[in-house]
Amino acid sequence: MNYCKATLLDLFALEQLEKDCFQAEAFSRRLIKNLLINTKSAVFKATEPTGKIIGNIIGTTKKENSASVGRIFSLCVLAGHRKSGVATRLVQLLEEEFRLRGIRKIRLEVSMRNNIARMFYERLGYQMTSDILPHFYHDGTSAMVMRKDLS
Ligand SMILES: CC(C)(COP(=O)(O)OP(=O)(O)OC[C@H]1O[C@@H](n2cnc3c(N)ncnc32)[C@H](O)[C@@H]1OP(=O)(O)O)[C@@H](O)C(=O)NCCC(=O)NCCS
Repeated sequence: MNYCKATLLDLFALEQLEKDCFQAEAFSRRLIKNLLINTKSAVFKATEPTGKIIGNIIGTTKKENSASVGRIFSLCVLAGHRKSGVATRLVQLLEEEFRLRGIRKIRLEVSMRNNIARMFYERLGYQMTSDILPHFYHDGTSAMVMRKDLS
């Protein structure tokens, strides 16, 4: 598997990957394009030797009380490629990128119904906060907020 930053050339492949992983919640082409060109975001992809993109992670940053905070905005791996460490590597790459940008805190939202993602992030040192975001997703499901302090 090859891991590197995604570029605008990956736009259509990333759009398809989002659809395959998230269906109704998939990011639009326009949003993905903005995330690919915005210097405040970072997009990494996992690619098979054939060139097919099978996973990606999208991170964004914003200033909060004079400190920059990172956010994991999207993470997905195609069903046939899960449980092989792909997402773990993608999170590590984004964390490293955040560190290089001087970011020490990361936040993310995870669906109340997504136990797999919650367990995945907990294994990587992310902790559940008491913050709940009601009706965060299109189907009305609420999100839980997780966070991690980078050392
Ligand atoms: C969550 C997701 C990104 C994990 O990707 P992945 O490449 O399979 O993750 P990894 O192989 O790096 O898994 C690392 C650890 O996470 C946990 N984990 C991952 N998938 C799991 C599963 N199906 N059941 C239980 N634990 C799981 C395990 O602890 C695993 O370690 P192990 O393989 O040693 O047991 C993937 O399942 C996915 O794309 N899901 C759909 C989209 C999604 O929910 N994204 C997150 C939105 S917040």
